[in-house]
Amino acid sequence: MHHVIINGVPFAADVDADTPLLWVLRDEAKLSGTKFGCGIGLCGACTVHVNGRAVRSCITPVSAVAGSAVTTIEGLSPDGKHPLQQAWIATQAPQCGYCQSGQIMQAATLLRDYPQPTDANIDAVMSGNLCRCMAYVRIRKAIKLAAGMRETPHA
Ligand code: FES
Ligand code: FES
Repeated sequence: MHHVIINGVPFAADVDADTPLLWVLRDEAKLSGTKFGCGIGLCGACTVHVNGRAVRSCITPVSAVAGSAVTTIEGLSPDGKHPLQQAWIATQAPQCGYCQSGQIMQAATLLRDYPQPTDANIDAVMSGNLCRCMAYVRIRKAIKLAAGMRETPHA
């Protein structure tokens, strides 16, 4: 049994030690907001927070995060109104949406570390989160809006 705290709630997963955290979240905890993209740590669709750090859950064995606090998109805010979530809606950032929970989780660590991020900060932190729909311009606008940097809501 592997014990983690998911969105503030203790959870015990009866899975093999090398089971990726992604599948514990999706299949065991039934939290489908975290997405499977590449499965090899290259796209960022599966990004969650582990003890406040952005982590790729597809390549993180559950045994490696035993006892840790995991936050998924479902737990980012109690009511879905995190500033990033509001900005994402205001800018209509997603296209298909598949990459977006990973984008938002990554962006949450960006704004925590750089409350007023420069384009270089955004590039450095977000460039590993891929978007097949090429929504990068709107994602950047949404990040700046969430940071209170007064970007125009619509592209
Ligand atoms: S699914 Fe984890 S990085 Fe792509
Ligand atoms: S919005 Fe479709 S992959 Fe990013």
